[in-house]
Amino acid sequence: MKLDRKEILAALETISVAGDGKNMVESGVIQNVMTFGDEVVVDVVLNNPALHIKKRAEVDIMKVIHEKIYEKAKVKVNIKVESPEKPEIKGKSIPGISNIIAVSSGKGGVGKSTVTANLAVTLANMGFKVGILDADIYGPSMPIMFDVEKSKPISVEVEGKSKMKPIVSYGVELLSIGFFTSPDQAVIWRGPMAAKALNQMIFDADWGELDFLLLDLPPGTGDIHLSLMQSLPITGAVVVSTPQAVALADAKKGVSMFMAEAVNIPVLGVVENMAYFTPEELPTNKYYIFGQEGAKNLSEDLNVPFLGEVPIVQSIREAGDYGRPAALQEGSPVAEAFVTIARNTVEQVVKRNDSLPPTEAVKITTMAGCSAVKK
Ligand SMILES: Nc1ncnc2c1ncn2[C@@H]1O[C@H](COP(=O)(O)OP(=O)(O)O)[C@@H](O)[C@H]1O
Ligand SMILES: [Mg+2]
Repeated sequence: MKLDRKEILAALETISVAGDGKNMVESGVIQNVMTFGDEVVVDVVLNNPALHIKKRAEVDIMKVIHEKIYEKAKVKVNIKVESPEKPEIKGKSIPGISNIIAVSSGKGGVGKSTVTANLAVTLANMGFKVGILDADIYGPSMPIMFDVEKSKPISVEVEGKSKMKPIVSYGVELLSIGFFTSPDQAVIWRGPMAAKALNQMIFDADWGELDFLLLDLPPGTGDIHLSLMQSLPITGAVVVSTPQAVALADAKKGVSMFMAEAVNIPVLGVVENMAYFTPEELPTNKYYIFGQEGAKNLSEDLNVPFLGEVPIVQSIREAGDYGRPAALQEGSPVAEAFVTIARNTVEQVVKRNDSLPPTEAVKITTMAGCSAVKK
């Protein structure tokens, strides 16, 4: 049996990579097709590193060759992933800021700020322009995590208007409610007040061009969340949970809040923090202290993507206290975990922006005092 290369290419013209309008040959995904008797070797280059996209491409190629050419062909698919320098991110909602991502958790202390900080430096390392707005009015932690506790944003003139200049640390632009209050001062803001302050930090700040603005939200699902959510055009939410049942139950509430009709913010996915303990000196040993794969199951339950898991490692906590996010340590398990999470998040943002219109700030109808909300 001698298989014909041209026929195989014609067959491959009938399938495409998931989410791609063009067929695999036209889009350049198929790099090479070789035949040796009843063997076919197909070289493929994808620009999407997601495992399910790779798997799907492989299965589709095998299937189309078996169905259209020869059912007993021995097909080998070699897949190489070449990430584009920077995928194009659509979905502008505020001039200059392409995507606002809310990082949230049902419970406090599950590592929401840790995930925000490490995700931000990882995205910045990947070449994206990234900012963080620390909106945790109960416990702003970005100034410590980025070692800029003593910094105070200055005001600059932009086109005749005075604007707040974010502080830059490790390539990430930062504004935090903590820059404007002393650490020992407990700030309990009412929802509309907090929303107003945060709106100013978004609209009256000189962020420049940002691919991603990450919002470190206060824990919980209360009124403050609603006012924030209702006043900002949030692209999507990342929900952080630990594998404990209580945290999962709260994460579930968090996901439902975003999905509620009045809020309607797409959930980009769930991150499982403190998924397992791994001793620094024995990184291959994994101890599932809080149970295994709870957040993964949660994401399946709720039908939202699972973005990845972060182990419990001492260096994460130390780095957080010391003011240098642990993901900056190249090649470490923590860095690798966050590269996966960052890639999956970007993929979900691209998908979301392809399939949905930009989130509009929900019109404020009931709350007084939110006139600072600009369109
Ligand atoms: N994966 C982890 N491994 C070790 N320590 C962690 C991890 N994630 C968070 N921590 C630590 O747990 C504490 C709470 O994390 P934090 O990010 O401040 O939580 P949240 O913002 O949800 O309240 C911090 O001291 C932090 O350094
Ligand atoms: Mg926090």
